Amino acid sequence: MERKRQVRHYQQIASKLLKTRVLEKTESLRPFLPETRWYSLDALKQMLKRYSTVYVKPDKGGGGGGILRVRKRENDKYEVRFRTHIKTTTWSQLDAQLRSCFLAGKRYLIQQGIELATIDDRPFDFRLLLQRPNQDWELTGIVAKAAAPGRIVTNHCKGGKPVDATKALLVAADGDPETLERWVKVLIWLGMGTANALHDKFTGLRELGIDVGLDRNGRFWIFEVNTRPQFRMFRKIGHRSMYRKIMQFHRKIVKGNRW
Ligand SMILES: Nc1ncnc2c1ncn2[C@@H]1O[C@H](COP(=O)(O)OP(=O)(O)O)[C@@H](O)[C@H]1O
Ligand SMILES: [Mg+2]
Repeated sequence: MERKRQVRHYQQIASKLLKTRVLEKTESLRPFLPETRWYSLDALKQMLKRYSTVYVKPDKGGGGGGILRVRKRENDKYEVRFRTHIKTTTWSQLDAQLRSCFLAGKRYLIQQGIELATIDDRPFDFRLLLQRPNQDWELTGIVAKAAAPGRIVTNHCKGGKPVDATKALLVAADGDPETLERWVKVLIWLGMGTANALHDKFTGLRELGIDVGLDRNGRFWIFEVNTRPQFRMFRKIGHRSMYRKIMQFHRKIVKGNRW
């Protein structure tokens, strides 16, 4: 029987680590990339020496699924968070504890943990949407997403709430308009720089969803880049013209490409 060919409209790259390694080649982006390695006992040990919090996540995952957070506590204790569970464990148990939560058949990576800025006590980060309807990338969407109470991820499908990006930035900037203006510029530069750097290597990319965190010292960090981004968040946020343009570009991209 002939296998049905799956039609993808443009190139997809699933591996988070592969995309990170490509971005690391661009010098100017490096300061925005949290240190990321394949998960192993050795990597766990070294990363926890360097950082008090690390994230452990499937290399090919999505929607905030399967993500763990480890935080160093006093007296050789480690706090592990998975979904909405919190457990405290010792070093000797830690690797086994983490692995018991790993999804079958998935490779995991370990990443420097970022202390996200908060809004109403909820950590938040940003989703930037970039589209390439013609020969250039355009930043067509930006939204902040605030984690649901008790969650370590901000993903919409894990209860993350879309928040107006300007509002979130202004809260983090303590209401300072100059900081807001500077941050907006950084975000635009980051989005365009990331899209161009990835496109140099993967020329079939047409739409990107970039997850960017802002830490409590005002530094931005790129968590991951999705090559098949969703648009729901942008509909929910209520900027009708933003959503309309996104969908217009999407239709154009889908029509013009058969990958
Ligand atoms: N290194 C990190 N430090 C802090 N928060 C993180 C880190 N990595 C992921 N997160 C949180 O988890 C969410 C999901 O992680 P992400 O890497 O985007 O995986 P997924 O593909 O499942 O969306 C991020 O949007 C962010 O809120
Ligand atoms: Mg994500």
